Amino acid sequence: MIHPIVKYGDPVLETPARPVEKFDDELKALVADMFESMYAAQGVGLAAPQIGVSVRLTVIDVTNGKNPEAKLVLANPEIIHIDGEQREDEGCLSLPGFRGVVPRPLYATVRAFDADGKVFEMRSEGLLARAFCHEIDHLNGVLFLNHLSMLKRDMIRRKIRKMKKTGEW
Ligand code: NI
Repeated sequence: MIHPIVKYGDPVLETPARPVEKFDDELKALVADMFESMYAAQGVGLAAPQIGVSVRLTVIDVTNGKNPEAKLVLANPEIIHIDGEQREDEGCLSLPGFRGVVPRPLYATVRAFDADGKVFEMRSEGLLARAFCHEIDHLNGVLFLNHLSMLKRDMIRRKIRKMKKTGEW
């Protein structure tokens, strides 16, 4: 089932999510819904709070559906090693229309559980490392906005406030 993406302003996006505890059919259904919702929104990553479910679960596919092997499910993910730096433009499905340059590590190793509850570690670089950091931020209630300069952040917040008034947000 495709869920609407929660937009900036909803407190669920700024609330640290609770850990996944049961790797059951309900979790697998949530994972399936998250992939469906992410592809429908043409995203490369989606965290559960973005569909209003405050659990530490994220799905990522940096090929945007082109390579089935690129589909990743990360429950209770943690970054265990980082190296280097990249500075690229970043966006978020919860902040449509806004982007900003966010410094991120060039390499990131994550430890997480898959949908069956099996622990794994994965090293990443470039866009995938960026996606890991961005999505894990979501699980901690942090948005890419928090990494921008105060000036840029306030500018985006002001624009969104205006859009809310006119019903565009
Ligand atoms: Ni995001």
